Amino acid sequence: MARLKLGVLISGRGSNLRSLIAACAKPDYPAEIALVVSNVPGAGGLAFAEQAGIRHVTIRHKEFPDRAAFDTAVDRELRAAGVELVCLAGFMRIVGTEFLERWRDRVVNIHPSLLPSFPGLHVHEQALAAGVKLSGCTVHIVRPAVDDGPIIVQAAVPVVSDDTPDTLAARVLEAEHRIYPLAVKLIAEKRVRIEGSRVRIDDEPAPRAPLLSPAD
Ligand code: GRF
Repeated sequence: MARLKLGVLISGRGSNLRSLIAACAKPDYPAEIALVVSNVPGAGGLAFAEQAGIRHVTIRHKEFPDRAAFDTAVDRELRAAGVELVCLAGFMRIVGTEFLERWRDRVVNIHPSLLPSFPGLHVHEQALAAGVKLSGCTVHIVRPAVDDGPIIVQAAVPVVSDDTPDTLAARVLEAEHRIYPLAVKLIAEKRVRIEGSRVRIDDEPAPRAPLLSPAD
């Protein structure tokens, strides 16, 4: 079966890109990365693409008069590479509505909280300030509002009393590296059905026991 062609958009260190590269390296994984796009020259993640022999381009948003022009340039590269699914992985630009219409239901994002809690920036600071005992991460279909859209996969991660934003971020990031490849796999296997604001997963594995935090 043909593998789903991914375009991964990054702005920074690229650890989620690296987790997708690792997943795609497995012979039975149903997706492959056709192109990596960074809007930041020298973004750390570009080195992962280079090492893996994956095509990568830098499109500097500052060189475009407005968001639409930048989005059009990104769109052109993605189409030229035959991309079928766009994965935002630490991409620090808001994607315009026109782009989202052209790629309707084919743009996904990873966010380091259990959405709809704590959208936006300074996510772990928000979680610690709210005093939640569980945080986590979310892969979702991208809609025009920031960090909004049908949820495909979430992972819950405990918050402990002496957490700092950095320790919590590190624990959540480990879970991110598991759920992004999982969400992409489910999409590639055509098991993700969007029904309004919800996602139905075909042949969904049975949920496990609840995660208690603190443990009992
Ligand atoms: C991750 O925490 C992701 O959830 C958020 O931005 C961060 C990107 O990290 N959207 P990396 O560049 O993938 O290491």
